[in-house]
Amino acid sequence: MLISLILAWIAVILTIMTVLRYIARISRNKKLNTFFHKIHIPFGTLLIIVGGIHGILAGNPASATLANFEPASVLFTFNWGTVCYVLTLILALTYLLRKKMKRKWMIAHRIATVAMIVLLVLHIYDVGIRLPKRLFGNSQHAPAVTESSRVSSNSEQTNEQTSEQAKTTSSDTSANIVTFSGAQLKDGVYQGTADGYKGTITVAVTVKNGQVTAIDVISKSDTDRYFDEAKSLLDKIIGQQSLQVDAVTGATFSSAGLINAVYSALQNAVVSGTLQVNNIKLSEIH
Ligand code: HEM
Ligand code: HEM
Repeated sequence: MLISLILAWIAVILTIMTVLRYIARISRNKKLNTFFHKIHIPFGTLLIIVGGIHGILAGNPASATLANFEPASVLFTFNWGTVCYVLTLILALTYLLRKKMKRKWMIAHRIATVAMIVLLVLHIYDVGIRLPKRLFGNSQHAPAVTESSRVSSNSEQTNEQTSEQAKTTSSDTSANIVTFSGAQLKDGVYQGTADGYKGTITVAVTVKNGQVTAIDVISKSDTDRYFDEAKSLLDKIIGQQSLQVDAVTGATFSSAGLINAVYSALQNAVVSGTLQVNNIKLSEIH
């Protein structure tokens, strides 16, 4: 959820401000030194609080709010963020044990600082950066399946899928009216995109004799574990010649993303009728 991403970046700022304590010390600038000395312990403590809340909220889907959030099912699932957090606790611990550790506490504190920076970089590299996109938006997709509503009119689809699609070949299927999910389709290869759980899913859909014969995933950012489960939907869509298929339990976001991507691609293939899609309830964690 958005709050988790905002807290994540606040935690990054707090980390930078606490690390600057070292730069301030070696700069021998008295003002800087006093400032970073004063804020060090309060900011370090805040980092423990903010990083902790971020970690608890981080597993929630994008659409979750504070009213309907679910704490991580396994609190602090293992990832680099968790290791970062443990190091923050170790940093505080070295301070609390300073009397016992004597001079060694500062060495331990410095080593933990370097490890924290390395792991923070790994953590951000691992999960990617989504906050700017979330705040400043990418409103190009008009998804067919959303939490509570569905777009069914052709006009609401943006003309995002411009370049590679509509390489239409033979289009006349009027003799024997073959439909796909309630719509008559023109032959061709069509590209479509939609949001999955983590980012954009792009698919290429092949229509032959009015039927969908192949769906290729061109790109996706969702975690393999969920995405691979959701991919079984593609065989169903082709087998049943319908987009009215149910989401794969436990991978509802990737499922909805795939259905939306195919829907968005086929918007350009519709000759008559309207593509019918089931409403998927995105209430699960993933
Ligand atoms: C609650 C947590 C923390 C406590 C209680 C704490 C405490 C301290 C104390 C007492 C000092 C001695 C210098 C001074 O008084 O300003 C210090 C220095 C330092 N701390 Fe922390 N700290 C905490 C968290 C952190 C974090 C999160 C980082 C970095 C990610 C960090 C990095 C440093 C560095 C780089 C120094 C300077 C080392 C040097 O002068 O060589 N500390 N810390
Ligand atoms: C002090 C520690 C931490 C810092 C500074 C930190 C920082 C960040 C940053 C900068 C992001 C990227 C936000 C974006 O996409 O724009 C992020 C994402 C994420 N972090 Fe952390 N993190 C910390 C601890 C944790 C912990 C303890 C967890 C434990 C589960 C965690 C789990 C995640 C997850 C799953 C994401 C993916 C985005 C999301 O769904 O919220 N992080 N973190």
